[in-house]
Amino acid sequence: ATGTEPPQVHKGVHEATRAAIGPRHLRTDRWWLAPALTAAGLLAFIVYSTWRAFANADYYAAPYVSPFYSPCLAENCEPMRSGPNWEIFGSWWGLSPALLILIFPLGFRLTCYYYRKAYYRGFWASPPACAVAEPHKKYSGETRFPLIMQNIHRYFFYAAVPVAGILTYDTVLAFRDEHYEWGHMGLGTLVFLVNIVLIWAYTISCHSCRHIIGGRLRHFSKHPVRYRLWGWVGKLNARHMQLAWASLFSVALADLYVYLVASGAFDDPRLF
Ligand code: FES
Repeated sequence: ATGTEPPQVHKGVHEATRAAIGPRHLRTDRWWLAPALTAAGLLAFIVYSTWRAFANADYYAAPYVSPFYSPCLAENCEPMRSGPNWEIFGSWWGLSPALLILIFPLGFRLTCYYYRKAYYRGFWASPPACAVAEPHKKYSGETRFPLIMQNIHRYFFYAAVPVAGILTYDTVLAFRDEHYEWGHMGLGTLVFLVNIVLIWAYTISCHSCRHIIGGRLRHFSKHPVRYRLWGWVGKLNARHMQLAWASLFSVALADLYVYLVASGAFDDPRLF
């Protein structure tokens, strides 16, 4: 050392203003379990959904269309008599049509406040858990590119609402049989029903939604309707993490169900 180096500036937990504690953390419980399970769960979904999104096959089994492929926006969609099929992208689009629509629900989940916490902890250890110092030397939070882009979450919420609306329409169409006769239900209809309830519950419980409904109001008493809605959204919002996982699982299950029926693994049991 020459003695002329600038003094080392410590950030985060090693900052001069923080208590000088030697060990990385003082937790004695299995704090690593939650981030490890989170990472495993997210990884499983990423692998499954990537395979299905690129598969470009077995996403339609009358009257069901996979939520990964709806609405279908390309000309190369399987001929379907179920679900919206808008050929906005012409014959030049040769890849899987799922890639066109999945951007929106994926962006919604990727920028979600809960998932951010989940994958920052699970994949990036930033921080690994409460009261466990992160291994990274620098910390700039979400103040710089690319993480500052997380602020567009609200706009993904706006996109997620019509997508949920379309999946609702698909669920209504599932009340038909394979010959498109109305007034029938199969096991798939139940799978779709559970999925759409969870998708809506997750979407409405969004923190951005809560702010849109009840934010920036000076007096709740002057906005009784918004206040009441805000209260309901708040109750769901308290369960946002659970709804994030439940809807992630249910949307994958709905897709898997369509895949199994479409690929001939089994026939959709008709309930009536
Ligand atoms: Fe999770 Fe908006 S905060 S979806």
